[in-house]
Amino acid sequence: MYFGPIPNSPYSIADLTFLVNSLIDTTINPCIIHYEGETLIMNKQTDFKTGPLAGKNYDRFEQAMPWYNEIEELLATTLAAKLRGIKDPQVLELGCGTGLTTEKIMKHVPNCHLVAIDSSRRMIIEARKRVRSKNITWMHTDATEYVCKAISNNYDAVVSAFMIHNLTPEQRRMLFKGICNVVRIRGGWFINADKYARNNEAKHLADLADQLLHFDVFNDDPAYRLKWTVHYLLDEKIRFTEKDQIDLLRNVDVLNHVTCRFTFRRRMEALFSARIITE
Ligand SMILES: C[S@@+](CC[C@H](N)C(=O)[O-])C[C@H]1O[C@@H](n2cnc3c(N)ncnc32)[C@H](O)[C@@H]1O
Repeated sequence: MYFGPIPNSPYSIADLTFLVNSLIDTTINPCIIHYEGETLIMNKQTDFKTGPLAGKNYDRFEQAMPWYNEIEELLATTLAAKLRGIKDPQVLELGCGTGLTTEKIMKHVPNCHLVAIDSSRRMIIEARKRVRSKNITWMHTDATEYVCKAISNNYDAVVSAFMIHNLTPEQRRMLFKGICNVVRIRGGWFINADKYARNNEAKHLADLADQLLHFDVFNDDPAYRLKWTVHYLLDEKIRFTEKDQIDLLRNVDVLNHVTCRFTFRRRMEALFSARIITE
């Protein structure tokens, strides 16, 4: 498919609807873009692994989303509050990336035993350099495979930041089933800082327009800006609202009981936490 240069002019909702619809009819992986004589191949499963958004450049994303630090900090302080009183809590982090979230978890829950997973070897290498702790076990593996195949359910909490929005709804369902498989049967937590669409579509599209404009922090590198823009437009194909998330958890058949809620939102990002009981 051809996806021409993204205009630098402000996006209107009509522009966005057009852009999103033009991608909706195409297969999500790979999405091939011709841009200024170059061919870019975007693939949601590998963009962060070996692809155009991988490696240390990834940390520049924070400039386009100023509350990145705040929401990750909030994820870690929420985790600390939920685990207060538990001796040596066991925590699983899915999609640790370069270790930004991991670092905050270890700051706020220093007594935890953390298993940090990422499907990208490159990301794990960066994360290990950033966070040095004998309480962390690093694993280069696929998150869904890990939780679905696990034979013990000894995690007090499963946390994740900005990994899950890359999954299709069906992949999310499999992942959540797996998460239920690894949390303690008498109760565990799932805490997720991620992209969640507002239930109101017009408001969501306004958020998207606003975010795309904020990618102007990458104007010094137009190709990089374009990659993030396309990544966000591809996310629209697997858009997941707050309501979808709550419905999904309520319908996972292995669950005995779940209480879940959203506690924070800025533009397209939100913090979600759920108490999961499978017994
Ligand atoms: C956007 S980054 C977020 C990293 C980090 N949590 C943060 O907030 O900075 C998403 C990470 O999830 C990883 N990832 C994507 N799909 C995965 C999967 N199925 N299993 C494990 N890791 C995955 C990517 O390699 C990437 O490092």
